[in-house]
Amino acid sequence: MNEIDWKKDAAGLILAAGKGVRMRSSLPKTLCEILGSPMLAYVLAALKPIFADHTLVVAGHMAQCLREAFPTEKFVIQERQLGTGDALKSAMPDLRRLGVSIVAVVNGDTPLLTAEITRDFLARGQGADAAFATLTLKDPAAYGRVARKNGKVSGVIEAKDYDEKIHGDCAGEVNAGLYLFKMDFLEKFLPRLTNANKSGEYYLTDLITLGASDGREIRAVNCGDNPELMGVNSPAELVAMEEALREKTARKLLESGVLLRSPQSARVSPFTIAEPGAEITGPCEIYGGSVIRAGARIEAFCVIRDSVAESGSVIHSFSRLEEARVGPGAQVGPYARLRPGATLERDSRVGNFVELKKTRLGPGAKANHLTYLGDADVGAGANIGAGTITCNYDGKQKHRTQIGEKAFIGSNSSLVAPVTVGARALVGAGSTITKDVADEEMAIGRSKQKNLRKRGQ
Ligand code: UD1
Ligand code: CA
Repeated sequence: MNEIDWKKDAAGLILAAGKGVRMRSSLPKTLCEILGSPMLAYVLAALKPIFADHTLVVAGHMAQCLREAFPTEKFVIQERQLGTGDALKSAMPDLRRLGVSIVAVVNGDTPLLTAEITRDFLARGQGADAAFATLTLKDPAAYGRVARKNGKVSGVIEAKDYDEKIHGDCAGEVNAGLYLFKMDFLEKFLPRLTNANKSGEYYLTDLITLGASDGREIRAVNCGDNPELMGVNSPAELVAMEEALREKTARKLLESGVLLRSPQSARVSPFTIAEPGAEITGPCEIYGGSVIRAGARIEAFCVIRDSVAESGSVIHSFSRLEEARVGPGAQVGPYARLRPGATLERDSRVGNFVELKKTRLGPGAKANHLTYLGDADVGAGANIGAGTITCNYDGKQKHRTQIGEKAFIGSNSSLVAPVTVGARALVGAGSTITKDVADEEMAIGRSKQKNLRKRGQ
């Protein structure tokens, strides 16, 4: 048999059009998050290394939200959610256009799927007209049951339609929701699907039953009780899976040399990179494409998303970072908030109750207490006193504040943007600065103190 070039001859299709009624979420099910990323991100990460740009997602319910969450992915629209068989049917025009001869299909609610499991399934299923992964479970729950006659697969019967007296004992073998089909098999059997069943849906699984009764080669690829092939249908299942993934990720981090001091309570996304030699001390959430470099330390109760902590930096407890970069040796918190576009250069420092947004702190600059810096550029070695506020919003537009190197901003000052404070300039405490301050100048913008005699004295 010729080797299959999976990137060229095959396509991967993710079914994600369903509403996921049992999740009771306002989001489509595949956008529900596990360790800070939508379930769909995990399934895409499993398929894309294999099928590259031949990876398609079937969307339907709130399709626009899926597109927005994954702007670079290829979507196919299933107009009405008439069942998994209909979802596959909606993708046929696109699959034909790709000119592939094989299609792998997976349910979008199988977030623990990995590229390795998928590859193993493909290797074991290839050559058959249709193959599907099966699990052997103590409790077959709501999964489709695998029916056999004389040991040979005769079909998949959905839980609702399953009757042991008619279909025989499935011995706990169920359909995992990962399939491989030859295109010509789909061309022949997809038009034959009907919705004559208890749900009134077009079941993808009927393809197995139709193919088996037509004498096609149908292969059940048994994957034991591998929990990584299970589906998420309810909040309870989502949380159970999230915990399994959290535990696995924590174990991997420890084994790789990350000093993860509370492996029972650290929630680190598998999409995050924590380098060997990084330290994470307590319960925390580190999500998305975050990078924690060797020698960086994250203290307890921090929430970090899509942010970078460079070597030697410390994020003190109770800080929240989003799309921020903390440079080498820089310190953050405790109780700091770094919003998107916050950049701390080498050895700079942000202390307690300080918020930064779209702001760069130059090397060695400090904002140690109770400060808001938005749309600002702070030069090297500048000192921002307690209670400093950049007034960056005039009710209509945002404006920038420039603070020169080694400038000193006295406590409780308001810098009304757009405004520039020059290098080594000094702003007196309690000032409201509305005009630019040149290099080396001292500005005081506050009313003069008067000391008066108290009444009656
Ligand atoms: C499905 C299988 C079942 C299997 C189980 C494994 C069918 C009929 N049944 O059941 O045999 O044991 O998965 O987890 O396939 N979807 C669409 N369009 C639709 C309906 C669903 O795209 O019209 C998508 C959903 O978004 C979901 C996936 O298909 O990601 C599976 O749908 P779901 O309703 O969860 O199927 P199950 O009842 O779990
Ligand atoms: Ca499901």
